[in-house]
Amino acid sequence: MDLKDYIRTVPDFPKKGIMFRDVTTLLKDGRALNYAVDRLYEISKDRGITKVVGIESRGFILGAALALKLNAGFVPVRKPGKLPAEKLAETYELEYGSDTIEIHKDAIQKGDIVLMHDDLLATGGTMEAACKLVEKLGGKIVQISFLIELSFLKGRDKLSGYEIHSLIDYD
Ligand code: PRP
Ligand code: ADE
Repeated sequence: MDLKDYIRTVPDFPKKGIMFRDVTTLLKDGRALNYAVDRLYEISKDRGITKVVGIESRGFILGAALALKLNAGFVPVRKPGKLPAEKLAETYELEYGSDTIEIHKDAIQKGDIVLMHDDLLATGGTMEAACKLVEKLGGKIVQISFLIELSFLKGRDKLSGYEIHSLIDYD
C-alpha cells in the first residue's frame, strides 16, 4: 500500500504558496489508517517505550493509537492556555508563523523512555521545542516518528542526534 496515495494536497492553504498535506483522507480510510499505525508500531515496538508524546492537534490521533499498541502512556503537548495544571512552555517557529507549546510538569517522570510523535515534520521547530520540554522534565527520547516528512524543508537538521522515522516523504 502506498500511503502517499491517501494524502490530499490542498494548494494555497492556509496561506498562498503553501501546499497543505491533508491527512484526513488517510485517516478516514480504515485500511490505510490500520496500515499506517502498524508500520509506526513496528518501528517503535521492543524499545521499552513508557510514554508517547503527541503534539496538538493532528499528532494526538496516531500518537494515541501508538500509545495503546505499545502499552505506553500518552502525553499531550498543547497550544498555549489549554492545559489546566502546572506547565512548562517553549516558543518555536512554524513554516507559517510562530507559536508556543506547553506540557504539564508532571506528565513525564525522570527515566521515562519516550517516543515523540507528530503527523508532519516541516521546519522541525515544533518537534525541536517539544523535545526540549520532554528533556527538561527528565524524559529520555529514543525515537521521533512522523507520518509525513517535508524533507525539502530540512527539518531533520534541527533534530540531529535523534533517531527519526517517517512513512511518507515530500522532497
Ligand atoms: C503542523 C503539524 C506539526 C507542525 C509542523 O501543526 O501538525 O505539528 O505544523 O511544523 P514545523 O515542523 O515547521 O514546526 P499545526 O501548527 O498546523 O497545528 P494542527 O496540528 O493543530 O493543525
Ligand atoms: N504543517 C506545516 N506545514 C504543513 C504542510 N505543508 N501541510 C500540512 N501541515 C503542515
